[in-house]
Amino acid sequence: MSAASNEFADLRLDMHWTPPREDRPCRYQMVLTNNTDRTLSDFQFAFCGPGRIDDRLPVDNAILMRRLSNFTEVAMTGKGSLKPGESWTFAFRGLGSQPFRHWSDMARSAYVTLKNGEILRVRIENGINADFPPGVPKLDYDILGDLKDLTDGIAVVPRPAHVAVSGARLGGLLEPAAGAAGSAEAITAFRQVTERLFPGEAFLGKGIRIRFEADAMGEEAYALSFGEEVVVRASGQTGFFYGLVTLGQILRAARMAPDACRFPETGRIEDAPRFSFRGAHIDLARQWYSYDELMDFAAITAWNKLNRLHLHLTEDEAWRMEIAAYPELTEIGAFRGAGLPLPPLLGAPPQRSGGFYTRQQLIDLVAFARHCGMETIPEIDVPGHCYAVLVALPKLKDRGENAEYRSIQGFPNNSLNNAVPEVREFADTVFDELMAIFPGKWIHVGADEVPDDAWLGSPAAKARMAEIGGGVPELQADFLRRLHERIRAAGRITGAWEEGAHGGGIPPEGAYLVAWRDTKIGSELAAKGYDVVMSPGQAYYLDMSRSTDWWEPGASWAGVSSLENTYRYDPLDGFAPEHRGRMIGVQACIWSESMADRRIFQRLVFPRISAIAETGWTPESSRSFARFSAATRFLPRLYDGAFK
Ligand code: ACM
Repeated sequence: MSAASNEFADLRLDMHWTPPREDRPCRYQMVLTNNTDRTLSDFQFAFCGPGRIDDRLPVDNAILMRRLSNFTEVAMTGKGSLKPGESWTFAFRGLGSQPFRHWSDMARSAYVTLKNGEILRVRIENGINADFPPGVPKLDYDILGDLKDLTDGIAVVPRPAHVAVSGARLGGLLEPAAGAAGSAEAITAFRQVTERLFPGEAFLGKGIRIRFEADAMGEEAYALSFGEEVVVRASGQTGFFYGLVTLGQILRAARMAPDACRFPETGRIEDAPRFSFRGAHIDLARQWYSYDELMDFAAITAWNKLNRLHLHLTEDEAWRMEIAAYPELTEIGAFRGAGLPLPPLLGAPPQRSGGFYTRQQLIDLVAFARHCGMETIPEIDVPGHCYAVLVALPKLKDRGENAEYRSIQGFPNNSLNNAVPEVREFADTVFDELMAIFPGKWIHVGADEVPDDAWLGSPAAKARMAEIGGGVPELQADFLRRLHERIRAAGRITGAWEEGAHGGGIPPEGAYLVAWRDTKIGSELAAKGYDVVMSPGQAYYLDMSRSTDWWEPGASWAGVSSLENTYRYDPLDGFAPEHRGRMIGVQACIWSESMADRRIFQRLVFPRISAIAETGWTPESSRSFARFSAATRFLPRLYDGAFK
């Protein structure tokens, strides 16, 4: 196998998608055109993107050679050669459980493998959906809202609880003088965040004097009084930092839109969060984000006063965290590519790509986040979503397993089998290393989406099921409870997705669950005694598309959500009054399947992440969608300037 090149060959892929209707089955047609000057013979063609081909359904004019989740490889039927200028048309009929709904579902990366192992990268043209008018993929970030809705000239997101200010002060930078305990650290954190997010823009210097006073209030609360100088009151570093972020946002908006926004002369802002848990989850496994991108993302979450950074570090598609005891996890599990144990998936190119975070990088990230009022919550997703683990460490499989099961995403036999002794040792070792790197209170074990028929072909698992008198959910719970005890013994809290309660599950003491389907599940979990974080897919999964339009990118298996819908979603809806206290907060979830193109990330994540931040922070009585959407134009985005 020769090393794959990043360069595109003169090969072109066109796609044509016909959705199912009563009179017609769905059809996903591909046309591969050879514009090179050589005849391609006896080759294979591979592609991947968020959409998945169902390998049990018919293929026209091609032979299916291999499929792993969204990676598909086909060959020509017959003699199988493609002369210069020739095209090969083939099609998949019926796409199984997840029909394509958005242009970004289609193949995002494709290549040809020649008989001698040579790899030719194929250029992809945008696909066409026969039922939608022709269009162009929407990729730009939209500026929304009307500046005149900033009625008091204060553009702060999340909106502070109480704002009563007047006058406009012209010119000057923020000139803080460290005083009360924690204020010096807060100024340093503010400097780091603004330098990272707004390079070239000055925030600190001569001008508006800022004094810090200690005051007894909640850890995240702060008060600002505007006058000759600005006085920031808080109980410590986090409150002082949040006070500075509010001042930084006011200053920046006044500078960018002086006709609509102002830095007040007099008055007060009093502020404290509505919920104690305001999370941002990012799936670092489906796509590779560099350490620098991750640090920028952490700074953005801090600017939105989010206080829990949930790192989804492992998936079927990759393992991203260095583990000293198992170097194979990153040597093998962190990279995908043509001919590698993990093929290109989700738009990854044929050449080896990916990466992982070193222990030191993660330690530095945790320290930075903590400095900015954020706790980092690491997630190692077990026992499901472990395809990459099992490719890297085949010794964790039950050698006697004699049946295949598949995950919802189409990965075969992807769940750690608790009946295999090496699996228990693996989980203990990995979580011990994880807890050594992440000193915070919360450790997330995943627990989502274990297939209903997982382990049923494993004699060892069946024996354990008989011993505990249960089935698949009970075996999962057996595994998770053991892990939970280890996490509790280390003085930590176990986090899990809602499936952590399945089969008797993790007990509620010392645990929290993230409800991702709907508020009904959230309220049921609260009634069982769990602390619950709401992250309903239909409103808070930021990979879901903004509308049903084919030309909008993203997924829509959980629904679609406009900015307004995400903003207006009530996370307490359906919670009985007596269980509301167990709903500890909200979380934005960025799943990365469709983020191969970072412009898609930009369009989907911003500013919906800020809508969730405002729901988490601002009391109902101070919310206004019109004002919020006008203010979002001043917020930082991860890839601003990256696409020019
Ligand atoms: C999830 O969406 N599987 C947590």
